[in-house]
Amino acid sequence: MHTPFIVALDFPSKHDVQQFLRPFSGTPLFVKVGMELYYQEGPAIIAMFKEQGHAVFLDLKLHDIPNTVKQAMKGLARLGVDLVNVHAVGGRRMMEAAIEGLDAGTPSGAARPRCIAVTQLTSTDERMLHEELWISQPLEETVSHYAALAQASGMDGVVCSANEATLIKERCGASFLAVTPGIRFADDSVHDQVRVVTPRKARALGADYIVIGRSITRAVDPLAAYSRLQHEWNGGETE
Ligand code: C5P
Repeated sequence: MHTPFIVALDFPSKHDVQQFLRPFSGTPLFVKVGMELYYQEGPAIIAMFKEQGHAVFLDLKLHDIPNTVKQAMKGLARLGVDLVNVHAVGGRRMMEAAIEGLDAGTPSGAARPRCIAVTQLTSTDERMLHEELWISQPLEETVSHYAALAQASGMDGVVCSANEATLIKERCGASFLAVTPGIRFADDSVHDQVRVVTPRKARALGADYIVIGRSITRAVDPLAAYSRLQHEWNGGETE
């Protein structure tokens, strides 16, 4: 359905976003709106993207009691977003409630936004998992368990590192979506990401969608960087 390239619009204001999007005028993108932008600009920014023909992943990572998540999701579905997410650690009932809310809020005739779960944040390492969160299982097994729980709770997929995509696909099946951030071109700066993967490698590992931010948004020529992404995803080499 949508392009597999989700561009993370981590900008502080509508003005900055509009400036970034100018060269893409006429090209429908799949954009990710996170807390930074959404908490400043609110639902109006979503309406703007939809009017411009872009698909929207609203990345708010909901985590609360089931009823609160259900009511919040009802409102998000009314915005016409295409993809939303929750934290799997909220548990089965909360994830089921998220889907109930999305079903209830989706306008008749429209498709329900898809919903994916965060298993463990990529900023969580083994030490933090054991010492701070007091989860005794290894990180990889925890991720795999949360992915299976998310699937059993009706989620359409998970956000995960591309390095975990193969494991998740083996456990949950090919149609369970793997949406993977931490993408960098081979000659890029890693920034604050720890384990990064190229677009081509992410595809080979089983990613359905890749989330890419600074490699596009901070590129000298964002349009050229986006073309390179398409080229590499399709197996092309870059000199
Ligand atoms: O600029 P960069 O490509 O690192 O941006 C990645 C995007 O994906 C950011 O919006 C970040 O918040 C998000 N993300 C991530 N790791 C996760 C979940 C989301 O990097 N596990």
